[in-house]
Amino acid sequence: MEHFAVVHSIIKAALAGDEAGVRKQVNRLEARLSKAGANNEVAAIERLLKASTEVKQLAPSQVEVSRVLITGETLTPEVHPPIDRETGAQLCLIDFPGQRTPKPVYGQAAQETIDGLLAEWRNSSALMLVGVEPTRSLLIYGPPGTGKTISAHYIAEQLGLPLVTARIDGLISSFLGTTARNIANLFDFANRYACVLLLDEFDALAKLRDDPHEVGEIKRVVNTLLQNLDRRRQFGVTIAITNHDRLLDPAVWRRFETQLHIAEPEFAAREALIRRFLAPIEAEDSTVRIFSYCLPGRSGADLERLCRAVKRTMAMADKAPEPSNLFSSLSSVLGRMPLLDHIPARILAADPKAFVSLIANDPDIGLDQKQIGHATGTSQSQVSALKQKMLHKDVIEATHAQ
Ligand SMILES: Nc1ncnc2c1ncn2[C@@H]1O[C@H](COP(=O)(O)OP(=O)(O)OP(=O)(O)O)[C@@H](O)[C@H]1O
Ligand SMILES: [Mg+2]
Repeated sequence: MEHFAVVHSIIKAALAGDEAGVRKQVNRLEARLSKAGANNEVAAIERLLKASTEVKQLAPSQVEVSRVLITGETLTPEVHPPIDRETGAQLCLIDFPGQRTPKPVYGQAAQETIDGLLAEWRNSSALMLVGVEPTRSLLIYGPPGTGKTISAHYIAEQLGLPLVTARIDGLISSFLGTTARNIANLFDFANRYACVLLLDEFDALAKLRDDPHEVGEIKRVVNTLLQNLDRRRQFGVTIAITNHDRLLDPAVWRRFETQLHIAEPEFAAREALIRRFLAPIEAEDSTVRIFSYCLPGRSGADLERLCRAVKRTMAMADKAPEPSNLFSSLSSVLGRMPLLDHIPARILAADPKAFVSLIANDPDIGLDQKQIGHATGTSQSQVSALKQKMLHKDVIEATHAQ
């Protein structure tokens, strides 16, 4: 095979994880192909190189955490997690960095909190000069499916630390006395190793407090938790997650330096998520905008499920991923969803033409007639006629009055 020697060198460098070496050998290959007049092949390689540079730019650089701040032994896959002595169940799961969790999509305030926290770790030496440390404890709260758990994974990934995840309800034992011991064992484990400790489903503790039978035991559990949270401050980073922030004991709440609220995504964040979840389909802006317009109040997890359903519907009907097919698939997916409380989504589910009339008259969606026609597979004259009909003018007035 022609150029085999260069291909061989590329494979060797790639397997050794030597990126500079791969690039050097690829340049050699390009030079040879170019000399042989294989211009299409050279262009294809150029596109690959360019795309990989763009991906790198999107992925923020990892933080180099100071070993002064994060102490402890290195966790390896050989280390056994602690277990509940009565049941033998593991008290935590361990995820190692390297999974490349994509950056979650946030609203502006949440974005600033996460970026700020990581920036503190990036500049920890400057902070230590003035006698402060980067934020070590974070409480994340918000409705289901909004990206709380993946945010913890993302932070651990960015800090280059393993994530030790405990679900509080997994720590709660039906055996008297065991819950407090489980909590203590979990914290001992997390403090022994350099890691981020994640306490997911933190509200289970608050639910415990409502149990009238075990008042003494619950007090002991809460005290153990508070003491352990206090002690943990010298060791590593701790993240707790809850859906029900109001249920939490104020004493627990106060233990966390930063509180991050993640809400359902706003219009622009929905667009970014929809684009991500429709991939590998590269949907056009107007299509993404229509999706976002129909799905206010939906969580990221809802959007992911819905986009998956749209892709499935399109593929099963053997349709190409064109704007009009995405539009009709969205309509049928919405039609199969129970309890559609958002009126524009209900209109699209029931009658796509009426929906075209609706968006042609709604300046909020920001699409002109040409874009609407293209995105919905409707001719210009038909969009214009539907606009005139002003179907559902009342809906627009009602949404604008809100
Ligand atoms: N803000 C977001 N950015 C990126 N992806 C998101 C976001 N929100 C949700 N997702 C998607 O939804 C899935 C579920 O997210 P995650 O498990 O983090 O939600 P959660 O807030 O922890 O939900 P729960 O309260 O039910 O535990 C993720 O795997 C991700 O694909
Ligand atoms: Mg979660």
